[in-house]
Amino acid sequence: MRFNFESLFLLSSFLLPFTAAQLSGSVGPTTSYADKRKKVCAVTAYGAKADGKTDIGPALSAAWNDCKSGGAIYIGSGTWAMNTWVTLTGGTGVVIRLDGVINRTGTDGGNMIMIEHSSDIEFMSGTGRGAIQGNGYIFHQQGSLSGPRLLRFYEVQDFSVHDIALVDSPAFHFTMDTCSNGEVYNVAIRGGNSGGLDGVDVWSTNIWIHDVMVTNKDECVTVKSPAQNILIENIYCNLSGGCAFGSLGADVDISDIIYRNVYTWGSNQMLMIKSNGGSGTMKDVVLENFIGHGNAYSLNVDQYWASMSPVAGDGVQLDNITFSNWTGTCSNGIQRGPMQFKCADGAPCTNMQVVDFAMWTETGTSEYEICRSAHGTGGCLESGSGEYDAVTSTITATPSGYAAPTMAADLSTDFGTTMSIPIPAIPTMYFPGVQAISAKNGPGGCVSCSTAAAKI
Ligand SMILES: *[C@@H]1O[C@H](CO)[C@@H](O)[C@H](O)[C@H]1NC(C)=O
Ligand SMILES: *[C@@H]1O[C@H](CO)[C@@H](O)[C@H](O)[C@H]1NC(C)=O
Ligand SMILES: *[C@@H]1O[C@H](CO)[C@@H](O)[C@H](O)[C@H]1NC(C)=O
Ligand SMILES: *[C@@H]1O[C@H](CO)[C@@H](O)[C@H](O)[C@H]1NC(C)=O
Repeated sequence: MRFNFESLFLLSSFLLPFTAAQLSGSVGPTTSYADKRKKVCAVTAYGAKADGKTDIGPALSAAWNDCKSGGAIYIGSGTWAMNTWVTLTGGTGVVIRLDGVINRTGTDGGNMIMIEHSSDIEFMSGTGRGAIQGNGYIFHQQGSLSGPRLLRFYEVQDFSVHDIALVDSPAFHFTMDTCSNGEVYNVAIRGGNSGGLDGVDVWSTNIWIHDVMVTNKDECVTVKSPAQNILIENIYCNLSGGCAFGSLGADVDISDIIYRNVYTWGSNQMLMIKSNGGSGTMKDVVLENFIGHGNAYSLNVDQYWASMSPVAGDGVQLDNITFSNWTGTCSNGIQRGPMQFKCADGAPCTNMQVVDFAMWTETGTSEYEICRSAHGTGGCLESGSGEYDAVTSTITATPSGYAAPTMAADLSTDFGTTMSIPIPAIPTMYFPGVQAISAKNGPGGCVSCSTAAAKI
């Protein structure tokens, strides 16, 4: 869906200007799918075979070279072995349509598919059945995280990634760095139950990420620095690590980020801001409509994060961050209280706002909140300024309105790290009661129709 402010205002007056202000301009490819497929480069014309054995790598590179000035690269249904990785550079006006499964057989590190220095790019499945199967378990069962990431976008502008599944990456699933004007939607990510298998990591400008499901045991959809004007909504962390900002180190520059409608089930946290020392600023952030169930941490600002080696500096300055409308339960509110602001003494948090925060514990009858050098309103936040020692308050009264719906598809067991992980279907719902913003299978839903016109 091409997103622009004019149509947003016309079509949906209920989306406030505040929403529109989030993105700094249009996102997505600038030419239509129909225009791009005037020239088709099917990988089969370059030697690829959907036989599960022939390496698709060289054919994909060759198809890119022929179609990179405008065209549609078509990877049809079936299983395509990938033994060598591709770096696709310098494209303009290209759609890569993946309707089958790219099955990792090669063992190099790096990125299976990297797209860089390109613009007007769409990476999608027309049938919603396209997937990259990373077979990460083959690495993980040996305790190794040395395999490749599945997909990386670097210095790409005006792009979309949608209606695909990214499964069992040996390392990270999808990274977008130094990109702009992108849209990512209707994406299902399912990885092993281990750290180091991030779902979506983004450090970029003007990006809309919506309707994404992640199962793994590390980052769900996470923002790193530098990042500006990012709208992240309808996110289903379905047994995951959870969403985060970070790890934040030196010269952090993050602003104008909204996370909205984030459902987190059985994860490490609902939202964590993680750093240890460091410098720079993260500001003007809204984190609203969060539902959690069975998570270890919930709201967790930890600027003394022990899993990170300290970075030089007094701390990353957190300013003007609103946490609004959080409901549900945490796993054990006495072990890990649902509200934690451990701000850096050298750079106390300012203008934190907690509004309508009602989280209760699934174990026991009390929970705690902790604030350190954290200023603002609501929860345990203190007014004034300057550093102060951690203050813990115990809560014994059940907060009113904490009860929150669950999702029918919540996972009860993870996928471990030693067995092949099945490719999921693309969901139609990523947050209770909220339908995905775009219909499945492509812009306007027509790419997947079985009419001749919709075929590549
Ligand atoms: C995919 O590749 C793995 C090896 O990485 C192999 O074990 C598996 O059989 C392949 N799957 C298909 C459907 O070809
Ligand atoms: C605080 O952040 C919100 C959300 O990004 C923004 O609308 C508001 O202008 C910011 N406030 C200040 C004082 O900058
Ligand atoms: C709070 O979030 C819930 C979903 O958890 C949503 O139904 C409700 O509309 C939100 N309330 C406000 C005031 O946005
Ligand atoms: C959550 O994971 C389970 C197990 O893989 C899956 O059946 C379900 O579809 C997932 N939820 C969504 C919304 O896809």
